Amino acid sequence: MHRLQCILQAQRCLGWGPLASVSWLLLRACRAHSSFSTTTCPSPEGQQEDGVRKDFSSRLATGPTFQHFLRSTSVPPEKLSSPDVVDPPPYLTVDELLGRQRKVYLETYGCQMNVNDTEIAWSILQKSGYLRTDNLQEADVILLVTCSIREKAEQTIWNRLHQLKALKTKRLRSRVPLKVGILGCMAERLKEEILNREKMVDILAGPDAYRDLPRLLAVAESGQQAANVLLSLDETYADVMPVQTSPSATSAFVSIMRGCDNMCSYCIVPFTRGRERSRPVASILEEVRKLSEQVLQLIHERDNICKQIHLPAQSGSSRVLEAMRRGYSREAYVELIHHIRKSIPGVSLSSDFIAGFCGETEEDHLQTVSLLQEVQYNMGFLFAYSMRQKTRAYHRLKDDVLEEVKLRRLQELITVFREEATKANKTSVGCTQLVLVEGLSKRSATDLCGRNDGNLKVIFPDVEMEDATDSGLRVRAQPGDYVLVKITSASSQTLRGHVLCRTTLRDSSAHCSPD
Ligand code: 5AD
Repeated sequence: MHRLQCILQAQRCLGWGPLASVSWLLLRACRAHSSFSTTTCPSPEGQQEDGVRKDFSSRLATGPTFQHFLRSTSVPPEKLSSPDVVDPPPYLTVDELLGRQRKVYLETYGCQMNVNDTEIAWSILQKSGYLRTDNLQEADVILLVTCSIREKAEQTIWNRLHQLKALKTKRLRSRVPLKVGILGCMAERLKEEILNREKMVDILAGPDAYRDLPRLLAVAESGQQAANVLLSLDETYADVMPVQTSPSATSAFVSIMRGCDNMCSYCIVPFTRGRERSRPVASILEEVRKLSEQVLQLIHERDNICKQIHLPAQSGSSRVLEAMRRGYSREAYVELIHHIRKSIPGVSLSSDFIAGFCGETEEDHLQTVSLLQEVQYNMGFLFAYSMRQKTRAYHRLKDDVLEEVKLRRLQELITVFREEATKANKTSVGCTQLVLVEGLSKRSATDLCGRNDGNLKVIFPDVEMEDATDSGLRVRAQPGDYVLVKITSASSQTLRGHVLCRTTLRDSSAHCSPD
């Protein structure tokens, strides 16, 4: 849940304001940072990039979706659209640039940047019509995303290359020849040394040359070694949506910068990854937005994720929100609420509010009251403002709302919140809801307490019940069990009901069924 929350926090940034502190260094032109360019031909990537930037939004629109980050989601797999290939250089045909369903095996060594680089490299190859395999034996292309940080990291790659040599020799005798590529930091650091020492290496691509991979592979196909280890001052792969390569992974990276300018005296990174540069804020936000969209979809379709979202508004007045530096207006907040409600019908919403922030007028306060009425939250956390030392408000603003006014406004907010939450929660009366049992009720030893799909507390008598998955069996519900509860009454904080039976998440498709 924590991870999901993070993503949802990001959704806030996206709709409502810029991500702070991500700088974009406008370092244009001049890609040369290395004296070693391509071994076979000049790189077409300068032209490619301009074209690529121009159709940035259209590429984003057709980019990978969150289902790439997850196993077995019901989202249909992305259609294998026709490969996305830019103009070929004069010595290659469009057809030669295509993957033509050849299978790529990617192996990642080293840091998190390399994990992200693997996702970028794969995104580029996938768009060129390559397929991915996690079976080394059936690979047509093996790419190692390498690390140079310590000597041992490089030694691991040399050893791996020796193993792959045997595989390659064997393949020569069988079917389509196997191509082997070294990507990333080691390609950048050792350049010719790899090509000369290991004749079996077909392609080399430095960390800024992944866009060139389809061309490098096409050249390698003709039997030549191909390399591009040009470093760039501005390559951030901003328009390339990374595709997570490990199906079992539980996290994904949103990379915001590349390279390093620190030049720590022991470190190779500035030489292998080049100058520090930040990805444009708009492209980071677009990636996070897509991620957030998919999270909403998952919350909607998965029964094992609570349909509850906490979206702290703090105030219903755009003027106060600006003074708070929240980065969104009331209108943007309300729009987001509508979007979430549309994406997850029946979602339960909660929020935080502060009464009496610096400069809050009666009119501002009424705006907050009206936001509570408009959204009708199921849960709320409301506070009177208290000035905290060191904060920006402490230094720049005046805590000018009288204490008694703050408390009166807070009380009014609490009253309105309760009225609205009671109304919202009462719509559950008469419904049968799936409840996850947490334990005994704090208030009564004869009651149990659990949570419904909206994360709302549900109290019900602790009695014997039928086990729906094992007819005839009578059980008492234990913490962690799922039970069906018929809701009989509702307040602003809790629902009450009587338990019908014990069930499982799988067996119960029982959401709200008014009977
Ligand atoms: N005064 C009152 N409430 C505050 N919160 C944070 N800082 C203050 C403060 N100085 C509230 C906000 C936040 C919640 C965790 O606590 O509503 O979302």
